[in-house]
Amino acid sequence: MNAKHIDLPAIEGGKPVREDFLPFFRPSIDEADIRSVTDTLQSGWLTVGPKTQLFEERLKQYLGVRNVVAVSSCSAAMFLALKAMGIGPGDEVLTSALTFASTVHAIIHTGATPVLADIETETFGPSPQDLASRSSARTRACIPVHFGGQACRIDEIQDMAESRNLLLLEDAAHGFGAICNGRKIGTIGDATAFSFYATKNLTSAEGGCLATDSDDIARKLKILSYHGMSYGSWDRYSRRGSWYYDIESAGYKFNVSDVLSSLGLSQLQKIDHLLTRRREVAERFSQLLSSSPYFELPRVRSGNTHTWHLFVVLLKSESLAIDRDRFVEALAAENIGCSVHFIPVYKHTFFAPYRKADMQFPLCESYFSRCVSLPIFPGMSDEDVDDVVEAMNRIAVHYTRL
Ligand SMILES: Cc1ncc(COP(=O)(O)O)c(C=O)c1O
Repeated sequence: MNAKHIDLPAIEGGKPVREDFLPFFRPSIDEADIRSVTDTLQSGWLTVGPKTQLFEERLKQYLGVRNVVAVSSCSAAMFLALKAMGIGPGDEVLTSALTFASTVHAIIHTGATPVLADIETETFGPSPQDLASRSSARTRACIPVHFGGQACRIDEIQDMAESRNLLLLEDAAHGFGAICNGRKIGTIGDATAFSFYATKNLTSAEGGCLATDSDDIARKLKILSYHGMSYGSWDRYSRRGSWYYDIESAGYKFNVSDVLSSLGLSQLQKIDHLLTRRREVAERFSQLLSSSPYFELPRVRSGNTHTWHLFVVLLKSESLAIDRDRFVEALAAENIGCSVHFIPVYKHTFFAPYRKADMQFPLCESYFSRCVSLPIFPGMSDEDVDDVVEAMNRIAVHYTRL
């Protein structure tokens, strides 16, 4: 095999950079996590109970917020928060066009109408100007998205929301641990929803929570999350509890279990380490790719502490004769797993009717045609990062326009 052949991308018949597959994400589960879950399994109490209460307490301490209610997912937290805020039919809720479907589902399930805004290109969060220009007399709330683990322009968005008297519910599914100008995400808006899904900065396999300084929102959310019951199951079945309960509203079954909360608790104990390793991986990517003419690297807005849930590079289309979809396929052929975040909301069949004829999303369009989310997780070694970069460079050089 000659040197030229060795350098051929695997998708063109070359030998893959890696023999084994590097997944886009692998959870970091250690012995302490396993012990924590096993203890709960042996404790005699599996569903919502003392471990969930402790998890909520520790989350409150970590975030520095008055109330945390743990629920089954970030999606549930956002939907219930909107319900608790009284959002419903006839209302409009602003959010980003670059988010996961569930942000928009949360709005639609209340009977309100989602109104999408384009992004800005520093944080890939929603543009404060676009949010403002798309608000109307019917707008009641705004759900900015902290994309990829970095705070969006939340200071400007908060001013915009206050000047229009809008409720501010932050989608921080990616943003556990993020900070904006000294303020932790979770302490800024009226309420903030976090995700503890398997790939997130902090995981309980599945789960989420709402953080809020409002006792009223927290109380309503807790009741809605458990059948509309005024007492949760822990209160009723523990020794000090009673058989009596009252139903205050048409509730849901969105509580979390102690089995999952015990995983969340042990992950929370090592959150600093998990976030540090994500940052080191991001720094290595940035250092190795900084002089590349083929890739635009993520930027960190001044005053932000990024948590690097995602590391998204944009392909420079003027330098590369390969499109994003083919680039992702070429990386997979090198045994590198990567992903795309997100397909803009308005491109999905179901959401298309929410795009009014005069609504343009030029920045989202340009982003989506060029974005690739590289693998990033705390268990990645420096050699894994080097393999990703080698594969990217090999593909880029083969398809260069320069
Ligand atoms: C931006 C965003 N919001 C909300 C969610 C929903 O989180 P969950 O799976 O905990 O409901 C996700 C999930 O990935 C997300 O990426």
